[in-house]
Amino acid sequence: MDLHEAERRVRELRRVIERHNRLYYVLDAPEIPDDEYDRLFRELRDLEGRYPQFFDPNSPTQRVGARPLDRFDQIKHGVPMLSLDNAFSHDEFDQFVERTNRFLGREGFYDFVGEPKLDGLGVELVYEDGAFRVGSTRGDGYVGEDVTQNLRTIKGIPMYLIGDGYPVPKRIEIRGEVIMNKKDFLALNTQREERGESLFSNPRNAAAGSLRQLDPRVTAQRRLDIVLYAVGGCEGIEFETHLDVLEHLKAWGLKTNPRNRLLHTRDDVFGYFSEIEKMRDGLPYECDGVVFKINSMSTQRALGEVSRTPRWAIAYKFKPRTAVTRIIDIAPQVGRTGILTPVALLEPVNIGGARIQRSTLHNQDEVDRKDIRIGDTVVVERAGDVIPEVVGVVKDRRTGSERPFRMPERCPVCGSKIEKLEGEVFYRCINISCPAQVKERIRHFTIRGAMDIEGLGEKWVGTFVDSGVVKDVSSLYGLGKEDIVSIERMGDVLAGKLIDAIQKSRDARLDRFIFALGIPHVGEHIARTLAMRFRDIDDIGRASKEELRRIEGIGPQIAESIHDFFDTRENQIILRRLRSYLKLTNPYETAASGRLMGKRFVFTGGLATISRDRAKQLVERNGGSTTESVSKKVDYVVAGDQPGSKLDKARALGIKILTEDEFLRLVGDET
Ligand code: IVH
Repeated sequence: MDLHEAERRVRELRRVIERHNRLYYVLDAPEIPDDEYDRLFRELRDLEGRYPQFFDPNSPTQRVGARPLDRFDQIKHGVPMLSLDNAFSHDEFDQFVERTNRFLGREGFYDFVGEPKLDGLGVELVYEDGAFRVGSTRGDGYVGEDVTQNLRTIKGIPMYLIGDGYPVPKRIEIRGEVIMNKKDFLALNTQREERGESLFSNPRNAAAGSLRQLDPRVTAQRRLDIVLYAVGGCEGIEFETHLDVLEHLKAWGLKTNPRNRLLHTRDDVFGYFSEIEKMRDGLPYECDGVVFKINSMSTQRALGEVSRTPRWAIAYKFKPRTAVTRIIDIAPQVGRTGILTPVALLEPVNIGGARIQRSTLHNQDEVDRKDIRIGDTVVVERAGDVIPEVVGVVKDRRTGSERPFRMPERCPVCGSKIEKLEGEVFYRCINISCPAQVKERIRHFTIRGAMDIEGLGEKWVGTFVDSGVVKDVSSLYGLGKEDIVSIERMGDVLAGKLIDAIQKSRDARLDRFIFALGIPHVGEHIARTLAMRFRDIDDIGRASKEELRRIEGIGPQIAESIHDFFDTRENQIILRRLRSYLKLTNPYETAASGRLMGKRFVFTGGLATISRDRAKQLVERNGGSTTESVSKKVDYVVAGDQPGSKLDKARALGIKILTEDEFLRLVGDET
């Protein structure tokens, strides 16, 4: 391929890949399967590697995250980014219309565009000659932070505007909201919990925290989304209506909200409001109201703004799902790993139809940070499917009788010593036989996703432990109907059902069993990772910390936790007993085919689709082995991206060289 041809192909690939990004991330209508996309992507990356002179910061390959920054540069917005005035009732909306009429000296209603109000982070994207140049946060409305690198990692943001019948202006500032969808927020928090990291309290904080990362590679791993809804400065186009703005944005390939709607009458407006409010919990994103914007741009201009809010728009907020109540007490609760969680016991309040009387305060640091005291009047929020949260203290209701909360020095359940580990925010009861911990561990063992023992919930687990028939998870399997039938409120039928359910769980999947063990920091995801890497539970138990740490996704803390678990005598005894009851199967174990028996592999350069660890594992599963240096004894050298001198040596020795694709075909990989 000559230079000219290479340049042409690079440009073409970038265009094609961007088109597929748009189909997938903006229009939600992919046209090609993932592996086809990956193939195009790899071809582009290879070409860019060979021809660095064609580097472009807007190339799809640059979306993985550039180098970390020391700090963000400041960006002054050409046109200030305003905020919105709020309305909380139909009355307040009517007053807004009256104010507007008075200001313009006219009567009647307006054409409005209704848009769901997204709960994320306001941003501005600047495009010059159709190419993405700079992106910034709203900041205080006048000056924001330059988060260009981070915005590039959001695949819903096109690096080039497409024409599609609408001319692209020389320079344009486009505004919108970076959000994290609810399911991505929940997944992120689950992952953080597994890793022992602090949790984000809502999708907005998660979006803001992810976008304002100095290391763009972190942002790239977070699933952020964007919706565009306004234009700041623009050279060359006069928009007649707001709807016109939205249509242009859409035609240029930017993501707009499909629920935006043009509304003509007061009934339209309130109808739209209740429609969105009703679907609120079912929307994929957090939404706290509806924004109504007067459609006519000339009316907007005539109205202008007052104290940083436009006179031509209003945010009509949904009924708050918060309530004010009092903290009667704060009680530390012991979890399955011994961690003490402070829980606020509240004077019961009704929020959006649910009676709330407890709320987790997460940990002591959080209590201190929010300065929450026993006796405080607090604001409690209950969002969609999220657990109730104390969001703040009403400080001017303090009487002086409030008491700060301190973690006890002894466990409230078993009286053992409480310890705080270096560098952790958590306090822990160190007695692993603490009844509270035992109950929680057994309950965790039985939940869905773990051993899934139907009917054996918190209540019966508690009773079994208190009455002494169950001491740890292994003793569940030794239970007969006769052991539990005489327990109060049990009865013959229920006892039979519970025993059946327990027996049924003896056939289990290895990954679910690992999760069921309740090893600190090992959630469903890590459990699956372990099942992929090891054949059975004994193999995991035998693995060294170093071996565990080399597995992708497992850091030093998790490795240590897994190792400690299997190193503890009590756990070894329980595991031995469990082994005699359970029949575990590993769905991730691909049968060792032995087709590479005796073959030796060396890897050089970066692999695109799988990790080095996984590649080595695939070799081993097929009966082969890997080594670090090239010699005559080596059968294959797998050359990835930017291979080193090993490749030259392999060539000199006449060893068979494989590309990544060829390698994957050879091992018959399913990833
Ligand atoms: S329009 C002058 N439209 O809400 C108009 N804002 O409380 C200002 N927001 O800073 C922006 N969804 O970050 C607009 N559909 C929407 C919105 C929206 C969410 C945010 C935006 C703004 C804040 C104002």
